[in-house]
Amino acid sequence: MLYASIRSVGAYVPKKILSNSDLEKIVDTTDDWITKRSGIKNRHIASSEEATSDLAKEASIIAIQRAGLKPQDIDMIIVASISGDYLFMPSTACVLADKLGIKNIPAFDILAACTGFIYALSTAKAYIESGMMKNVLIVGAEALSKFVDYSDRTTCVLFGDGAGAAVISATNDKEEAVVDVHISADGALQDFLITPGGGSKHPFSSFANSEKMQFIKMKGNETFKIAVRTLSNDVEEIIAKNNIKLHDIKFFIPHQANYRIIKAVGDAIGLKDEQLVLTVDRFGNTSAASIPMAMNAIYEEKKLKYKDMMLLDAFGGGLTWGSALLPFCGK
Ligand code: UT7
Repeated sequence: MLYASIRSVGAYVPKKILSNSDLEKIVDTTDDWITKRSGIKNRHIASSEEATSDLAKEASIIAIQRAGLKPQDIDMIIVASISGDYLFMPSTACVLADKLGIKNIPAFDILAACTGFIYALSTAKAYIESGMMKNVLIVGAEALSKFVDYSDRTTCVLFGDGAGAAVISATNDKEEAVVDVHISADGALQDFLITPGGGSKHPFSSFANSEKMQFIKMKGNETFKIAVRTLSNDVEEIIAKNNIKLHDIKFFIPHQANYRIIKAVGDAIGLKDEQLVLTVDRFGNTSAASIPMAMNAIYEEKKLKYKDMMLLDAFGGGLTWGSALLPFCGK
């Protein structure tokens, strides 16, 4: 029997840091408001020369090397992003493959907003368990700052740039296997988080430009309430379905949108504070990149060890949501 197992994680953030006090000089906001409402203090911002694939490349090189592999050992690349290098083609995964020097393997993007990394994990798992692939590189990468309206205080204080990558490989050892992955969506609430311009609905035009349709728009408060409810239910379901005890979960690694959402979900399911992984203060909301970036943070802090059980969960535009239970099997 073939199973999928996470062999490594890596991450990269651009050098420039945008702090809350920097934002105080740009829009009508305060460090106190941002900290209390979201838990965010800093976010990293890509330079004008850095595209999403550049961030993805740095994270991928680390993940591939930590998995003990060479780029040529990777047989599929999946990039989850809502801020790809190009609007529709080529995919950021194809650009990344080229930057890694990899040819003649499938490479494609997944568009599931902040849930993208869990969608990518689910896809990699299915390909590996079916025997079609052996080593799949999955990447969450975002240069969201390029799609943020820095005159809109309701969004510009939240988002940041960065990338996280992981290698998912085939194993025969059931104890190393990804236990379960849930992914889901509800398009009825598509306008809660939306980048309205540039697609076939509102192609680039002077009207789309004057309405600032190329930027991320969010109904923050409505999204907040649905996120807490949906994530708590989803996480309770995956734990119950797989007969996992709360004390078996070493780390709860949620999408890092807002400290209050993470704490509310953790409290709703009865997790202790030491189980919660929090990086939202340093990186802000990096959408599809936030989970692998948070995983990488505890790996680099030498807290995440072989066979530690991780519970992932995420919620984002679409609306989409998902959760996963998996032991970390990196060295
Ligand atoms: O990653 C994908 C999923 N995303 C999420 O899950 C994000 C979910 N939403 C959130 O994290 C929170 O809703 C926010 C952090 C975005 C906002 O927090 P909130 O507690 O829901 O605030 P609010 O939107 O209800 O706004 C409260 C007040 C408003 O003023 P009034 O109407 O009460 O006078 C806003 O205009 O805060 C005002 N406000 C701000 N004030 C200072 C909104 N943005 C700012 C700001 N600085 N940056």
